[in-house]
Amino acid sequence: MEKFIVQGPCRLKGQVEISGSKNASLPILAATLLFDKPVELKNLPKVKDVDTMLSLLKSLGLKIKINNKKKTVKIYKSKKIKTFASYSLVKTMRAGILVLGPLVAKYKKAITSLPGGCSIGARPVNYHLNSLKRLGMKYFIKKGYIHAQVNSELKGNKIKFPKISVGATENIIIASCLAKGKTIIKNCAIEPEIKDLCNFLNKAGAKIKWTGKRTVKIVGVKSLKSIKYSVMGDRIECGTFCVAASLSEGSLKIKGFNPKLINTELNLLKKIGSKIIIKNNEINIKGSKIIKSINNLKTKEYPSFPTDLQAAFMVLLCKAKGRSVISENIFENRFTHVAELRRLGAKINIKKNKAFLDGNTLFEGAEVMSSDLRASVALVLAAITAKGHSIINRIYHLDRGYEKLEKKLSKIGAKIKRIP
Ligand code: UD1
Repeated sequence: MEKFIVQGPCRLKGQVEISGSKNASLPILAATLLFDKPVELKNLPKVKDVDTMLSLLKSLGLKIKINNKKKTVKIYKSKKIKTFASYSLVKTMRAGILVLGPLVAKYKKAITSLPGGCSIGARPVNYHLNSLKRLGMKYFIKKGYIHAQVNSELKGNKIKFPKISVGATENIIIASCLAKGKTIIKNCAIEPEIKDLCNFLNKAGAKIKWTGKRTVKIVGVKSLKSIKYSVMGDRIECGTFCVAASLSEGSLKIKGFNPKLINTELNLLKKIGSKIIIKNNEINIKGSKIIKSINNLKTKEYPSFPTDLQAAFMVLLCKAKGRSVISENIFENRFTHVAELRRLGAKINIKKNKAFLDGNTLFEGAEVMSSDLRASVALVLAAITAKGHSIINRIYHLDRGYEKLEKKLSKIGAKIKRIP
């Protein structure tokens, strides 16, 4: 299994180009199942989850043509579409459930693996299933698979999510594009990646309109037209590099991402002492010598602070002057990085969904193990500022969502190497 060797501490300096967004690419790729005509996508990140989604689409019968020179992926419908999404693919990437909506909307049936739990929580898909049922999908679950069917076609309806869910919002928006009549969805997630999905679908002729902050109206269309689309930049990667600069008293120019979309994170970083200047859509960020603590950082749905950056901010706040408290409000088990951060010297106590951080940590190199995607990057960040040598095991988690992380970090001064 590959691992990272990191020699710290180092100060990061230079320029970083943000890759395409993983979390926007996955629903957009799933939505290509709705099309009869080819779709050309640009700016897909080269990460494992995108590879898995492409494999899933291939297994369903779509044809995928990758042009490395033009950095595009063209997706065509074939004559032999299958409607079976296997456990072997869906278990490694929960976003595999996003093929259910488009399959039943377009092909009226699907057998899709239930994704199962993962290290950060149970992550059920009841909102996806209940909402698709309201559009007319019938289903039963047998031996870990959702067996779904639609009698004639999906029909628009009114849906209100009991709780905000990114994936369920995406699945239902995608399915409603080809449903008959009008669908109104309330209490939607409004993450920028969802808006990117809607832009993609509208460009192809879908009729999606946001009528309130968390309310969307979709009028079904018969078919979608062929398009070329460039996926937005990765919000979480951008936030991670902002934290990396702030942690290491570094100085980074971050390009390829619209800074307005991470206002919450940038304001927090200003609060802890980082100097941030936005110019020509670029973020110029300088970390300060003294990092200030935050006593009530809470993860919450967009536009609030994202759970996907909780682990990275925890590393930063471990180094802050004084105590900080972080509450995790989205997933029930998203502190798996804490035990590993303690191995690097962090002083953190967990009580229910709250982490109490002592602060003033001088990280020291150690051997640690990644437990999930965002936990892995937190370990890399801590190792960069740690004194001495660290080994980070199981980095396959990290490869699911960060494109060329060690190359980007080496370019800006980190001493990090991937070894087999
Ligand atoms: C997406 C992101 C993930 C991010 C998360 C929260 C992708 C590919 N993944 O995951 O990186 O951490 O949003 O911002 O975009 N829930 C239910 N029933 C459901 C669906 C969700 O109870 O049917 C619960 C979940 O267990 C969780 C909460 O709702 O507690 C939010 O989950 P959700 O927004 O659906 O996350 P994902 O779409 O899986």
